[in-house]
Amino acid sequence: MNLKIAVLAGDGIGPEISTVGVEVMKTVCAKFGHNVSFEYALCGAAAIDQTGDPFPEATYEACLRADAVLFSAVGDPKYDNDPTATVRPEQGLLAMRKKLGLFANIRPVQTFKCLLHHSPLRAELVEGADFLCIRELTGGMYFGEKYQDNDRAYDTNLYTRPEIERILKVAYEYARQRRRHLTVVDKANVLASSRLWRQIAQEMAPRYPDVTTDYMFVDNAAMRMIQDPRFFDVMVTENTFGDILTDEGSVISGSMGLLPSASIGTGTPVFEPIHGSWPQAAGLNIANPLAQILSVAMLFEHFGLMEEGALIRRAVDASLDACVRTPEIQVVGGLQYGTREVGRWIVRQLL
Ligand code: IPM
Ligand code: MG
Repeated sequence: MNLKIAVLAGDGIGPEISTVGVEVMKTVCAKFGHNVSFEYALCGAAAIDQTGDPFPEATYEACLRADAVLFSAVGDPKYDNDPTATVRPEQGLLAMRKKLGLFANIRPVQTFKCLLHHSPLRAELVEGADFLCIRELTGGMYFGEKYQDNDRAYDTNLYTRPEIERILKVAYEYARQRRRHLTVVDKANVLASSRLWRQIAQEMAPRYPDVTTDYMFVDNAAMRMIQDPRFFDVMVTENTFGDILTDEGSVISGSMGLLPSASIGTGTPVFEPIHGSWPQAAGLNIANPLAQILSVAMLFEHFGLMEEGALIRRAVDASLDACVRTPEIQVVGGLQYGTREVGRWIVRQLL
């Protein structure tokens, strides 16, 4: 297969994990005889510094030319601590999602056997937890009308019927391929937007008689996720709730550095870790590259290259089993491995 990949490394730890992701892709493509090419483009604070725009036109064009985007992370504290900044790195990520029509963000939450004790939750509670959060990605408060002055500010949580229908359809399709249990997460007891979600879900549910649909308020879902994570198979929710719940989900696995995601829709798909740019760790070679590596696995699987994906997943498991781990998940007394060392070890496993 020919694969043209746009690489958006972004900010903070982004470039370090991106390098590992690209190495993994090259290695797997060489092994399976795929022809891969990479085009590097700016995004986030790095793009603001050079062009003034967090998602420059040239980056957009590179994404359009590509079969897939391998994205790392954006964000920089100099913007976080300045609420008056009008241009922010995160806008680059949001612009990419919107312009590429990536309305569905697939975030798998899984556990790794050898990391069960690493979760702050009891091992017997998280063992076997395995669910997908399908997060709506181009609507809601992230993109609704906004206003801010010195005394008043608002964000609008707007959702339209077609937006809700298409994301629910994606969720039902995933549920059908898994354990056929869909949980629609909303706040229908308070929010009008949530009531429309629930109404549409109730209309659609009879079309999927093979799937059990249940409905849960987001506050309750947040509790259930850590009390009984095995309850969930596929959950679907709006943009803001999905953002919050998936950070919580990473606690189940044991580290934010473990969770990949795929953003799909009408344009070029994007494969990105769920974590941010962790600016404090930039350049220190301590960031966990596994979320990025697993995003590469999701990329291959998206194109039906299941063996390639499985090979990467086996190599990741092997690295964890061999305690070739970055510091935040290393065992007491374990050797020191950095981003590069973990990456190199995994690449060798792939050969
Ligand atoms: C995520 C991130 C982004 C989001 C930020 C960086 C804008 O937290 O992908 O979850 O809120 O969507
Ligand atoms: Mg987030």
